Amino acid sequence: MCGITGYIGKKEGLPIVFDNLRKLEYRGYDSAGVAFFNAVSSIKHQVLGPKVIKAVGKLDNLEKAIRGAKSQAATAAIAHTRWATHGIPNETNAHPHTDCKKEIFLVHNGIVENYRELKTDLTKHGHHFYSDTDTEVLAHLIEEFGPELALKKVVGAYALAVIFKKEPEKIFVARLGSPLVIGVGGGEYYVASDPTALAGLVKKVVYLKEGQRGWLSLSGMKIGPARPRLEPLEIDPEQSRRGNYKHFMMKEIAEGPEVLESAIRGRLSVRRNSVKLGGLESVTDQLKRIKRLEILACGTSYYASLIGKLLFEELADIPTEIAIASEYRYAKRPVSSQSAAIFVSQSGETADTLAALRKANNQGLLTLGIVNAVGSSIARETVAGVYNHAGPEIGVASTKAFISQLGVLSLMALHLSRQKLKLHKEIIKELRILPFKIESVIKNSGAIKTLAKKYLQYDNFLYLGRGYNYPAALEGALKIKEISYVHAEGYAGGEMKHGPIALIDKNFPTVALATQNRVYEKMISNLEEIKARSGPILAIATAGDKKMAKLADDVFYVPKTIEQLEPILNIVPLQLFAYYSGILRGYDVDKPRNLAKSVTVE
Ligand code: AGP
Repeated sequence: MCGITGYIGKKEGLPIVFDNLRKLEYRGYDSAGVAFFNAVSSIKHQVLGPKVIKAVGKLDNLEKAIRGAKSQAATAAIAHTRWATHGIPNETNAHPHTDCKKEIFLVHNGIVENYRELKTDLTKHGHHFYSDTDTEVLAHLIEEFGPELALKKVVGAYALAVIFKKEPEKIFVARLGSPLVIGVGGGEYYVASDPTALAGLVKKVVYLKEGQRGWLSLSGMKIGPARPRLEPLEIDPEQSRRGNYKHFMMKEIAEGPEVLESAIRGRLSVRRNSVKLGGLESVTDQLKRIKRLEILACGTSYYASLIGKLLFEELADIPTEIAIASEYRYAKRPVSSQSAAIFVSQSGETADTLAALRKANNQGLLTLGIVNAVGSSIARETVAGVYNHAGPEIGVASTKAFISQLGVLSLMALHLSRQKLKLHKEIIKELRILPFKIESVIKNSGAIKTLAKKYLQYDNFLYLGRGYNYPAALEGALKIKEISYVHAEGYAGGEMKHGPIALIDKNFPTVALATQNRVYEKMISNLEEIKARSGPILAIATAGDKKMAKLADDVFYVPKTIEQLEPILNIVPLQLFAYYSGILRGYDVDKPRNLAKSVTVE
């Protein structure tokens, strides 16, 4: 998954595309590069270039390499920050890539699945290759067939920006499978993989649809085959910046209360004991006929979906199946016309989730989205859906999005319920005050930092939970894995005796979600078994629970809330625990090794 950007307008392009690259850095950062026209020859008044500068590693290295470089105003510029899929991260494999004659320069996000066959054919036609990437094939294909015909030969996914030595005021763009957005304003055009890079630069954008491609130039935009649709860019530039936080991850954990408020704002009424989801109004009649639900997602969104299952079954009495999107997309499964499939995705671009969505659409299922990124592929290809409105999530580890997803899933369960339970009213009331309870936990993050220091000595953890807290334990374990690179396993408390108990000893701590609910006593039994085997215990417990202080080595107390909403609260100390563990180990918590923010390739 990579970040691409481009600019054509009256200004100098190099500083603009580099600044945009900074905003896309979270998408991938093992190498980067730019291509720009750098001057006009005094003799023939011909524009010189494009000049290509690349660097391995983080963007600071590219910044040093381009220092002092001059780009020619009113000519095209493109840039790329790479997350390697084919070919190791080095300067040769970094984008932009070019053709034999060095007249075509392109940046690409996606995968050319048939690049080997294409490379063999092109080599037979006399083309010479210099890199190990799939992307370089595209430059030679365009050299051989021109951009339109070349893309017809490609199997795979691409978001492309291409510039041409002979036409310095033009950029060719194309999108299939990987997101690409065009910023439009005042005779200037910006290209970016992600609209957050355009925040503050333009007010209008075109989210390229599948198969859309065409030209941006000083004289206008020519995009087809479908007519481009101008839409407002609804991202506040402030939200994309880190504010006064050292890391995006901490900023986004601290935004937990406000994203829960944003998720429920204008969607629930305590007085009328009702939930209104405008994004589902168009499918009201179909939803009335639904007999079962499927929820498909990956990673953190999958763990949120596991909680969604419990909510839909308990609050709406609708049988709900969950599947990991990458499994669902290849599984042979019975299709029921009385099913609806829900796709949960923060980025709205996760390749596995998008592929699962396209499979469900092809099978004629009613597909609904719970997506954060406005205008993203999953948001646009589901029949209806509910936006999280959580603002851009920049930290690679998903934190505020998880809380927002649980808020929306709670609302959706209430919305789909055909009965009015006393519990519904309790949930609606509690959702209104839960942001304040999250706030109180975040205010106590210093205690979590102390605990992270104490548990820094351990490289293995068991995360234990039951009921609604079992998926939260899975998510807590994922967080510390992603951020601190220690091994952690989330487990259902009832399963401990079926194997993992063999691991318990003084070097194997357990983080236990043991708040007071219908399975509290069962969690106490788990902890007694662990204690009997000298296993260290860090418990997340309900404020005032004195019994826990005698049982666990360390306790972090959270306010009492209703069981169905506990994960929204209980995940916060686990997010903070992962954050501080990563910081204390000296890791880059916003850009953990080997990870990308949105996995737009298989
Ligand atoms: C979570 O911390 C990870 N970054 C990852 O598991 C993520 O949740 C997963 O890739 C799904 O992303 P999505 O929500 O954007 O679809």
